[in-house]
Amino acid sequence: MSRRRSLRGVGLRSTRSLLARCIPTADNIRGPFYRAGAPFRVRLADEDEPGQRLTISGRLTGLPDCRPLGGAVLDVWQTNARGLYSNLLGIRDPHDPKTFRLRGRFRTSAEGFYRIDTIVPGHYPLGFLTRPRHIHLVATSPAYRTLVTQLFFAGDRYLARDPWVKDELVIELIGEDSPGTPGPRYHGHFDIALEQSGAREEGRRGRALVRDALNLDYLEKFRGH
Ligand SMILES: [Fe+2]
Repeated sequence: MSRRRSLRGVGLRSTRSLLARCIPTADNIRGPFYRAGAPFRVRLADEDEPGQRLTISGRLTGLPDCRPLGGAVLDVWQTNARGLYSNLLGIRDPHDPKTFRLRGRFRTSAEGFYRIDTIVPGHYPLGFLTRPRHIHLVATSPAYRTLVTQLFFAGDRYLARDPWVKDELVIELIGEDSPGTPGPRYHGHFDIALEQSGAREEGRRGRALVRDALNLDYLEKFRGH
């Protein structure tokens, strides 16, 4: 793919993500391979980690006003290129830092931006399924509902059968030739929007107040007699 086509593609997606930012990002299961306490770093993959280089960047905002959430923490984990999480790589010492391979936490910038440098994760088998390539993340920010989700990549042949895939969590990757790197470097853009914590509870309280004001409970009971 030519450089010009790649850049134009990134621009198009950025415009779309700006429009979509006010919609809360869909959640997803955390899965069994999370490890608490990952080191703070944005470079998840060392130079010698086998796999195709991948950068994911985006912006974290909060509903309802799409305010950028600076200083929020993202906790990210994924498999290596062969589809193995660090928990499964046969490392016996749980204190060995390598058990946090391809895992990291980091804070968003003051304007809510983030960027990670990693590799394209692999497929892995789960029962009768093969899971599509994905990256797990947890986003936390004070006063906002913690989001646990997964990020998938368009064109993956295992997307269609996976019960956890949600269309809004599938992003396109743009490949760009890069001198000194075997194969293209991929880039994906993923904006995240968090709901305010208590938003649903406030909604429920609001609806209860309206019911009280209109005497709906009373009228329903009255109608039942
Ligand atoms: Fe997973």
